[in-house]
Amino acid sequence: MDRRRFLSRSMAGAGGALLGSRSWGDALRGSEEQTVAGGAKFPDGFLWGMATASYQVEGAWNVDGKGESIWDRFAHTVGKVKGEATGDVACDQYHLFPQDIALMKRLNLTSYRFSISWARVQPTGTGAVNQKGLDHYKRLTDGLIDAGIRPFCTIYHWDLPQGLEDRGGWPNRDLAGYYAEYAGILAKNLGDRIMVWAPFNMPWTFTYLGYGVGVFPPCRSNYEDFLKAAHTVNLAQGEAFRAIKAASSHATVGSAYGMAPAYPKTESEADKAATARYNAMNNEYFLHTAMAGEYPKAFVGETPYEQMGFRAGDEKVMKVPLDWIGFHYYTRRIVSDARAGVGGGTSFGTEIESDESGNRDRYTQFKAVMPTEGPLTDAGLEVWPRGIYDLVMRVTRQYNSPVIELTESGCSYLDTPYEAEGGRVPDARRTQFFKAHLTELSRAIQDGAKVRAYHAWSLLDNFEWADGYSQRYGLTYVDFRNQKRTVKDSGLWYAKVAGASRLEV
Ligand code: FCB
Repeated sequence: MDRRRFLSRSMAGAGGALLGSRSWGDALRGSEEQTVAGGAKFPDGFLWGMATASYQVEGAWNVDGKGESIWDRFAHTVGKVKGEATGDVACDQYHLFPQDIALMKRLNLTSYRFSISWARVQPTGTGAVNQKGLDHYKRLTDGLIDAGIRPFCTIYHWDLPQGLEDRGGWPNRDLAGYYAEYAGILAKNLGDRIMVWAPFNMPWTFTYLGYGVGVFPPCRSNYEDFLKAAHTVNLAQGEAFRAIKAASSHATVGSAYGMAPAYPKTESEADKAATARYNAMNNEYFLHTAMAGEYPKAFVGETPYEQMGFRAGDEKVMKVPLDWIGFHYYTRRIVSDARAGVGGGTSFGTEIESDESGNRDRYTQFKAVMPTEGPLTDAGLEVWPRGIYDLVMRVTRQYNSPVIELTESGCSYLDTPYEAEGGRVPDARRTQFFKAHLTELSRAIQDGAKVRAYHAWSLLDNFEWADGYSQRYGLTYVDFRNQKRTVKDSGLWYAKVAGASRLEV
């Protein structure tokens, strides 16, 4: 498998709707307590959601004053995205959102996780607000609330304004301040509608793939740039947390990290230590910093503070006790020690199956591979439902039983409308995928995990990053020639589950 292919595969792998007369605070507390009460598999108040991201669904890439993002620039560069696809139109949700909200209602959703495009709100990433961009999100969130759906906002899902990349991108620590200003603008203007904020989607993924190995925009490949970018993001997370809370007293701030449960390849001490480094780097590098104000032990040697650009006092900036912890689960990893002559082999790197260039990452020195024991989705990811239980229980143990949100979970299968059956999309494998994962999730809830919400990825087939439109993660099929949406059989099943809040439907 070529490296780009594996990385784009591993990319995926790596808060009430109860409005009525109750306040948002009550709704959130209610769902949390009921979940904690345990017993029932999915207690009343459990939130059934789906997720999307701005660049993947909105389209309207240069409409109403929106600025260019690094994903616009990347997709407009020949040879970067499969099939030369772009997000210029995507699912056109910028224009079709009323129809999509009606669809969510039909699917019985009680939470919708979407992201805001920074370049719509501040076209070059700093300075004056583009009112038209902000107004779009006011209309979107008003529509959601009217439909009884909780708006869950991801502040940043990878589409950095190109203007900020031109100033050095995430390795430039000034971006922490710009980002906090942007987050504050959102909280000030939308904080009456949105109570649940996740600062970053999968921070390891966009910093590592964008700056460490260059397969995502801005296509830079220098491990030290990755270390700097990741440190800026940790600072940004802390500063934004404070800016959001200062602007909106009801706001709760959590996360949307990408996580994969990791298992040592052998029982050797070296492989176990490598697995701990994987956890620290890929699962907790942005979580432990927020909760404890320090970097987890991700490196074979000392933490490389100098290369990160760490300054005295940064530990205080990073430390913010998240109100809840959100993470995605797609697939698992088997980890071995990658130091020459030890354990699993001689390749170096982070989450790369085989890296011929070698030696790029002398810092973490583990080898993480996705096993293929379970069936593979059409995107090539192993289906391993047990992983969601292990991950949820691990976070529960490690962070003293926090409130948890599953921010993404899903699979790509390429099933299309079947004309012989009235245009249905019979995607039985996806239904099976969700059934199995939700069974494991309910087991974790029964074992005491305080899981409050589950978001299936995704509401719609959409622009799947460097894979373009060649992967379909939607529970709704999208015909990109005419934007026609057809709920797949899995979506019809999910709607019943969400309506009944139990799996036997
Ligand atoms: C996750 C991303 C999301 C989508 C899914 C398939 O890693 O957060 O945008 O691409 O994978």
